[in-house]
Amino acid sequence: RTVHTTSLGNSILTRLKSSNLYDDIKKELFVSKSELKSLCDYYFDGKGKAFRPTIVVLMARACNSHSNRDGDLLPGQRSIAMISEMIHTASLVHDDVIDGSDKRRGKTTINEVWGERKVSQSRCPIHAKLLNCNMCNNVTTINEVWGERKAILAGDFILSAASMALARIGNNTVVSVLSQVMEDLVRGEFMQLGSKQNESERFKHYLEKTFKKTASLIANSCKAVSILVNSDPEVHEIAFQYGRNIGIAFQLVDDVLDFTACASQLGKPSATDLKLGLATGPVLFACQQFPELHGMIMRRFSSSGDVARAWQYVQESNGVDQTNYLAQHYCQEAVRQISLLRPSPERDALIRLTQTVLTRDR
Ligand code: FPP
Ligand code: MG
Ligand code: MG
Repeated sequence: RTVHTTSLGNSILTRLKSSNLYDDIKKELFVSKSELKSLCDYYFDGKGKAFRPTIVVLMARACNSHSNRDGDLLPGQRSIAMISEMIHTASLVHDDVIDGSDKRRGKTTINEVWGERKVSQSRCPIHAKLLNCNMCNNVTTINEVWGERKAILAGDFILSAASMALARIGNNTVVSVLSQVMEDLVRGEFMQLGSKQNESERFKHYLEKTFKKTASLIANSCKAVSILVNSDPEVHEIAFQYGRNIGIAFQLVDDVLDFTACASQLGKPSATDLKLGLATGPVLFACQQFPELHGMIMRRFSSSGDVARAWQYVQESNGVDQTNYLAQHYCQEAVRQISLLRPSPERDALIRLTQTVLTRDR
């Protein structure tokens, strides 16, 4: 079979960004002009990778072609592309609070940002309790930290807007498929707070966590767009398995980049996982070569010098290569699954996307 060589994935991405995906998201986040609106809109500036909506649109078109329709998106499928980006962003807003992170997509995170706010009120916030402050002419700009509490509420608000858009699609199965994602995100994040004593259990725990925190959103969004066009459960399973496998590979590469890329490249802090107490793929593989890591993993790198020593062990081991190798294995499985659909330019773009996941550097 020939694989189309045009860069369809890239052109879908460009179209998504220049079309009105982000404008549509902002419309969903309808709140009259207020601070909450600025917070919620903050990351929908078209600067993200839009990885999830790109996969969702390609999968929708691949499933439409497979089902003998033209490739064009159904309205519900486009909504799912938008909803996947909203759920993802809401989870990142919360994640940055949990991780105490100060950079995301090259910007200061909501939990850390200093915002400017025009205040027009009878009680001047700067010159204290003066009513009708003549020093500020009753309208003033104050700097204030958005901070953690507002970040949590903004994440909740984005999630509620995503849920409304989901309900409007009017398909109960799709509602339940994407509600599963929200459960998985929370469970995945919760699993990350614990460590397993036994080494083989630890790896299983890591992969299950990786599915829940990252791959479930991609897998279930792919499944949802397939449900909207085809009633065959085998097609739903192919879509789900492609998303599951490419999603796990995506997170494995993310875990590698935490060790190999710099912050300016990533637009977020690097070398953070160990500091957060997390043992990801590279450390788990390194532990097979350097059993000294076991104790550090169990105490979540909390003793003085643990982070630096663990970092060194990872550099001396082949943990990074093995994690990349595992990501390749998941991508091969994603390709095997999607190849079960009838050929179409979109199916071939999904095949090529697996290479992009493996070679990305940000
Ligand atoms: C990023 O991981 C975080 C996630 C993929 C999921 C976060 C999920 C929650 C906080 C649960 C709440 C869920 C909802 C739906 C609001 P990371 O910290 O490893 O990656 P990073 O380096 O990009 O921060
Ligand atoms: Mg984080
Ligand atoms: Mg995190």
